[in-house]
Amino acid sequence: MPELKIRIDIVCVVPQVLESVVSTSILKRAQDKGLVEIHLHNLHDYASDAFRHIDDTPYGGGAGMVIQCEPVFACIERLQSERHYDEVIFLTPDGEVLHQSICNELSMRSNLILLCGHYKGIDQRIRESLVTREISIGDYVLTGGEFAAGVLTDAIVRLVPGVVGDAESVLEDSFMHGLLDAPLYTKPAVFRDLHVPDVLLSGNHAKIAAWRKDMATERTQHRRPDILDKGDVE
Ligand code: ADE
Repeated sequence: MPELKIRIDIVCVVPQVLESVVSTSILKRAQDKGLVEIHLHNLHDYASDAFRHIDDTPYGGGAGMVIQCEPVFACIERLQSERHYDEVIFLTPDGEVLHQSICNELSMRSNLILLCGHYKGIDQRIRESLVTREISIGDYVLTGGEFAAGVLTDAIVRLVPGVVGDAESVLEDSFMHGLLDAPLYTKPAVFRDLHVPDVLLSGNHAKIAAWRKDMATERTQHRRPDILDKGDVE
């Protein structure tokens, strides 16, 4: 299996939120194996004043603070002077809503910058001059983009070949073929009076595959008919 390496630089206001996310479990193992590099950058380190201010009040008035151009340009331009980045992604609730197909596409890139907002938002000039793509993880508003960057990083990294031991399991995930996953069972075959469906114990692989397809279709019809309507089912 070809081993792709991906580097993700996360530029944010509160890197502490992400420290444990990137240094435990599968994300840690992926980095230990040399398949992925994840770097956290604290925007306060790029502030130009002694108080490490990175935000100010919005021109024209209104509530909330706005992240200023200076620290964001300083941080991202420094990174870009060191290597080429395929995308500079701003996590924002008004971005394109994240979907498995976007994760698949991004997992094939080499270098990504994820920029997290905080407070009220960021100066529009950053979006126009530096950002190449804007992504939302869903139609709700978080206090900052850090959690969204953690979600996106996890969803991308697990697709990098070699990160998840069982490559087939990644390919069979919910959404991969336009359907949700079929129900899963493991040992014991009977727990209290709850039985695993007979077909899964039959050893008949064709029957099992057909059962899984039926169950996945039924579950998708019931829970996410919008996915079936899109007609992406393979
Ligand atoms: N920042 C705040 N809310 C967000 C969301 N829903 N998606 C991405 N970034 C965000």
